[in-house]
Amino acid sequence: MTQQANWRRRGSYGIDAPFWVAFLAVMAVASLGLAILSGRVLSLLPGLFGLIVVAIFLHATLRGKFAVWSDLLDTLGLRGDERILDLGCGRGAVLLMAAQRLTTGRAVGVDLWRKVDQSGNSLEATRRNAVAEGVADRVELHTGDMTALPFEDSGFDVVVSSLAVHNIWGRAGREKAVSEAVRVLRPGGRLLIADVFWATRRYQAHLARLGMNAVARGWLGWRCWGAFLVTATKPERPL
Ligand SMILES: C[S@@+](CC[C@H](N)C(=O)[O-])C[C@H]1O[C@@H](n2cnc3c(N)ncnc32)[C@H](O)[C@@H]1O
Repeated sequence: MTQQANWRRRGSYGIDAPFWVAFLAVMAVASLGLAILSGRVLSLLPGLFGLIVVAIFLHATLRGKFAVWSDLLDTLGLRGDERILDLGCGRGAVLLMAAQRLTTGRAVGVDLWRKVDQSGNSLEATRRNAVAEGVADRVELHTGDMTALPFEDSGFDVVVSSLAVHNIWGRAGREKAVSEAVRVLRPGGRLLIADVFWATRRYQAHLARLGMNAVARGWLGWRCWGAFLVTATKPERPL
């Protein structure tokens, strides 16, 4: 099996939530400028806090999430022949690292390619990254909505999602995406959803309601600050 312990990338993966980051950075710099003009040292604090938040976010999106997902994918102990689905794969940060752990298996990505959620997002950009990482032969890309997946039941051994489900508007939509992930997972298959802290408790409760086994939720640590991981296994018996 081709196993890449090193998470460093050859492709180009953009920045998550680029408009939000740009807005926060502009506000922080403007706040610092006003504070300097006012001459009051304490007035610097909001601007400094904003810049620290931006720095932490950029670190997570450019480096941290790659390192975290590399470790998570290693814990799955993949044989190499699995079918892995990445919901909201974007430019392929997780999808292509999963593909690097496969031989005869397939890494399948589905996305709506929303540029508001990730800079430079497009199916073509993801395909270029698959070529750059040397895994284009193991990767399938689909344009589709994760609340209505274009896949049959029980077709995947593993379903993953990184920082994507929270982008769906409304709790009902997000729960539909989680239900769809469960539907396309084979009995005994594993689900890993990493997402912002405010959304993941609902995913955990919904997965428990659906009858999934070993439902758990935990903090992803300083490398992906603000994000939690929800994991579950689909029971062998019908749900
Ligand atoms: C913040 S990006 C994360 C991308 C990738 N998972 C990563 O970690 O780099 C969120 C992704 O979710 C996708 N997305 C948002 N809503 C979606 C939906 N309803 N169905 C499919 N993809 C969606 C966006 O287009 C975007 O690519």
